[in-house]
Amino acid sequence: MTWLTQPKVYDHQIHKTGLVEDAALARVLETYPEELLDINAYSYDAEGQVSLATGDRGRADGAALLEAIQGGRVWVNLRDAHEAHPELWRHIQPAFDAIAEDLGVKPIKVTGQLILSSPQTKVPYHFDAAGVVLFHLRGVKKLWVYPTDEAHLPQPSVEKVIMRVQAEELPYRMAFDGDAQVVELQPGQALTWPLYAPHRVENQGVFNVSLSLDFQTWGTRLMRGAHYANGVFRRWGMAPAPMGKTPTPAQAALWAASLAMKKAGFVPNLIKDYERSFALAEQGKKAA
Ligand SMILES: [Fe+2]
Repeated sequence: MTWLTQPKVYDHQIHKTGLVEDAALARVLETYPEELLDINAYSYDAEGQVSLATGDRGRADGAALLEAIQGGRVWVNLRDAHEAHPELWRHIQPAFDAIAEDLGVKPIKVTGQLILSSPQTKVPYHFDAAGVVLFHLRGVKKLWVYPTDEAHLPQPSVEKVIMRVQAEELPYRMAFDGDAQVVELQPGQALTWPLYAPHRVENQGVFNVSLSLDFQTWGTRLMRGAHYANGVFRRWGMAPAPMGKTPTPAQAALWAASLAMKKAGFVPNLIKDYERSFALAEQGKKAA
């Protein structure tokens, strides 16, 4: 298969199921497993650089949490929605199957997260080391999708992100925006983009609900492992070849090496140690 070279929009009907109305969302927030619910807040400086804080729901119930999202500057991820929200997934899976067929991809692993975000939320410049389909369900958001060349996606940064030695954020400059394709997503649209394409998101002044689906194919899994191994080799002072010039058998060998490296524990997972640094009640005060 050949990956897309530019973003592609599909239509869906999932926003009409009633599952993203306030009452349904409050119920999901109320009952969702606590360990699968992430609350995040971002703040920006004048250069567009970002800092991240994470928090927990404190004593907020489902309706209060929904109100905090709709009125604050946080976004909430409901992880593993493919397992924890079967009502929604019943609609997502067939829609994704049709998209995968159109793309000519054979997913071996699919995961979903339901994202509820505030009117002013921005998601900073980053890439995902997986195929992504973003099903937009409520509100309006704008996405900037950038080229996958070395200028926008330096390979050493890709390796560090995949090794998880830094938060999943790439070096970003505002001048990159001139190179981006900009898509405004409406409910009923789903967007996908070239593998690893950096992107950033800005909600357009309204509360947003999206389902972000990640998928791995054998090809994406090999490439991800190859980046990991390359990252370790680069730390050892070697200069790995560009991934675009690394043929599949070599990627497979690197992937196999990455499994051994992970087993040997060469790179500590620093993200795991991220502390939950604010509580929702406090965040609400700051945003007010
Ligand atoms: Fe993303």
